Formats: sequence, C-alpha cells, structure tokens
Amino acid sequence: MLSIDPSTKARMEKASYRDRKWHYSATKVMFWSTVFGGLILYAGFSLLSSEDSSSSSHTAVKWGGIDWEKRVKMSARPGSGSHKAVLVTGAAGFVGTHVSAALKRRGDGVVGLDVFNNYYDPSLKRARQKLLDQADVFIVEGDINDSELLKKLFDLVSFTHVMHLAAQAGVRYAMQNPSSYVHSNIAGLVSIFEACKSANPQPAIIWASSSSVYGLNTKVPFSETDRTDNPASLYAATKKAGEEIAHTYNHIYGLSITGLRFFTVYGPWGRPDMAYFFFTKNILKGKQINIYEGPDHISVARDFTYIDDIVRGCLGSLDSAEKSTGSGGKKKGPAQLRVFNLGNTSPVQVSKLVSILESLLKVEAKKNVLPMPRNGDVVYTHANISYATNEFGYKPTTDLQSGLNKFVKWYLDYYSVNGRH
Ligand SMILES: NC(=O)c1ccc[n+]([C@@H]2O[C@H](COP(=O)([O-])OP(=O)(O)OC[C@H]3O[C@@H](n4cnc5c(N)ncnc54)[C@H](O)[C@@H]3O)[C@@H](O)[C@H]2O)c1
Repeated sequence: MLSIDPSTKARMEKASYRDRKWHYSATKVMFWSTVFGGLILYAGFSLLSSEDSSSSSHTAVKWGGIDWEKRVKMSARPGSGSHKAVLVTGAAGFVGTHVSAALKRRGDGVVGLDVFNNYYDPSLKRARQKLLDQADVFIVEGDINDSELLKKLFDLVSFTHVMHLAAQAGVRYAMQNPSSYVHSNIAGLVSIFEACKSANPQPAIIWASSSSVYGLNTKVPFSETDRTDNPASLYAATKKAGEEIAHTYNHIYGLSITGLRFFTVYGPWGRPDMAYFFFTKNILKGKQINIYEGPDHISVARDFTYIDDIVRGCLGSLDSAEKSTGSGGKKKGPAQLRVFNLGNTSPVQVSKLVSILESLLKVEAKKNVLPMPRNGDVVYTHANISYATNEFGYKPTTDLQSGLNKFVKWYLDYYSVNGRH
C-alpha cells in the first residue's frame, strides 16, 4: 500500500483546496456568463422577431382582466332581433371600421380586433376607434397571430361569424417589407382559421381577398372562374395563397368560408397610402403628383368601388353564408366555400379621377406623367359582379363623381377643421 508522509499530505490538501476554489470560481463565472449571455441573446432575439413580425411597430399588446372581459362580452351582445355575434379583425382599418359600424347599427353584436400598426398614420386608426367606441363597438388591441388571445375571445363569446379584414395591405410596400405580408396575410390567416376550426360551434368566416389575384390577366371583365396564377406582387401572391389555404380548411375541418375580392375601395375614412387619398393631399399642397401610364401610353384604369357598396357586399355575403359543419376541430360534413368579386363594374381612367378631384378641390393638379414602374401595380381592373348579384343581390350604386364628392367633404372636414394636417 502506498503511504504519504504528513508534510506531503498537507501540501497536497492545500493544492487540492486551491484547485477546488479555482474550479468553484470558474464554474461561478461560467454560470453567470451563461445567464447574462442568454438574457442578451433572448433580448436580441425578441427585438429581431418583433421587428420581423409586423409591418411596422405596434403599440404594446393590452388585453385581459375582468374589465376587459366585460367590455368584450358587452360589445358582442346582439340587440333584440339579431342572433349574430361577429368578430371583425382589422376593425380600426378603413373597411373594418365601416363594416363594424354597419353591423352594430342593424343590431348585431360586434367585437373588433386590431394591432394598430403604423403602416400608415396610426392617429387615423385611433380616430376610427373613437368613432366605433361611440357606437359601442369595442376594439381589442392585439395581433391575429396571438393564438392565446384568439382562444380567450372564443372562450368568452360564441361568435357566429368572423369577418376577417386584418391584413398587410398595399401593393408597393411589399417590396420594402415583404415579411409583414407573410406575417399578417399568411401566418395570420392560418392563425384565424386554426382558432375558428377549434371553436365550438365553429363560426362562418368571411374574409378579404383582393382583385389583385387577377394579376397580369388580360381577359376582362375579371370573373371568379378565371385563372389567378399570374400575381404581379407579393401582396397578390399572399391573397392567392390565402384562397388556397381557405380551400384546405374548408375541406379538412368543414369551415364555411367566403372570400371577397375587393376592387380599389375608396371613401371617407379611407387609406392614406391609396392614390385618390394622397393625390388629394398633394393637390391641396400644390405638390406634383405622378400619374403612371402603361406600355404604349395605355391609360391606367381602376374599377373604383365606393365604401358603402363594399359594406353592403360584406353584409350580404355574411347573411348568405351557411353555417360551418364541423365542431371542436372535427369535420361533420361538407361546408360552403365561395369567392366573390366586389367591384363597381365600371372602370375609370386615373386621369379622369384626377380631373374629378381638381374640380371638387377647385385646384389644378401639377401632373407628372411617367411610365408605370414594375412595382406590383397592374394596368387595368374590371370586375364581373354577376355571381354576387345572383347570390345576394349585390348592386353597387355610387359612381366615382358622387363617391369622391363624399370623400373630399370628409377629407376637408377631418384635416382642416380638426387641424390634424
Ligand atoms: N381597400 C382596398 O382597396 C382593398 C382592396 C382589396 C383588398 N383589400 C383588403 O381588405 C382588407 C381591409 O383593407 P383596408 O383597406 O381596410 O386596409 P387597412 O390597412 O385600413 O386595414 C387593415 C387593418 O388590419 C390591421 N392589421 C394588420 N395586420 C394585423 C395583425 N397581424 N393583427 C391584427 N391587426 C392587423 C391594421 O392595423 C389595419 O388597421 C384587407 O384584407 C385588404 O387586404 C382592400
């Protein structure tokens, strides 16, 4: 057996204590650097993913609590004579505000949902929120990708319908911020379908696709049965993808789904990123406006559709929607799947739009005519609306002159009287 003399043993014990002490300190340093490193990585990742995940920065998500739940339930309660409780996503948006107000006016229960992003001036969304607040429509602040929030809303309310209008809109912005389109228009749509498929009872879904799915098609007017596999922008591609995703959820889970292809919607409380809106602003400011023309000097034309006509189309499609057939994630039978054009079926050249604005504003525009850049816009849109007319009596009644007249009145009032410009 090996024996150790006492002085060597003492030296060895001292060395071993030094080793253990060093080892302990090194472990401590490693532990804390892992914790701090992890925290820094987590903070960096959160920052990156929140930048990634939306068009634009959001206000902090605020939901939950007893008062919040009370407001949701109150807002969702239908008036006498209605049995509908509708979740309207994108309620602080242009179309969403008008549709929510119209549903509430006729007695349906309405709960809004919007993330209030800053793709365009959020103060306009806040002003629309105030308007809905006065009409007793509560807008929940949150992202459609927040599945916990959606689950909570479906736990609180048995929604009969979901009017899904939240999206990253705009054709040109897709070149600057492509991921925001994937986030809201694809991931967000799947998140809504997932919540609806698991709900019991499942609601019927009406959602906004877009005329942009017709892309580079040249056969006019555009009909729902035409091919839609030539999108000219990522925005159009995400809406087309949405229509395919809708097919899947209808097929697997028995969800009743109606897609609406809106054609260039305009009117009071409209979107500042759209030509009729920023032309008005720039004409009034004496700033030059760019008017694009197609190849061989072809005039660009749009099937401009007034907001009240679109609202009637949204309500008509909601009222004619059949119930979903599944429940709690299980299909029980085939369900309705529809796609409708909602247009005015009367295209107008953009140069005509400008001359109407000039006469309404009593200011001559400084026009700059340019070839259309390849940024996702198409030369011409024209809706065949006979399917919507046959199914629920859709019949637009507002021509561009009278619709723009109402828009200009609103614009002057909103920006001049309120001094918001
Ligand atoms: N206005 C048109 O001319 C037109 C044409 C074709 C299709 N559409 C479609 O109609 C719908 C409504 O359009 P709009 O003109 O009212 O646009 P909008 O931008 O005014 O409204 C969309 C709203 O959705 C919200 N939103 C976006 N991403 C969200 C998210 N992840 N979670 C929660 N809320 C989110 C935005 O904050 C905004 O308030 C959109 O789906 C749009 O793509 C509009």
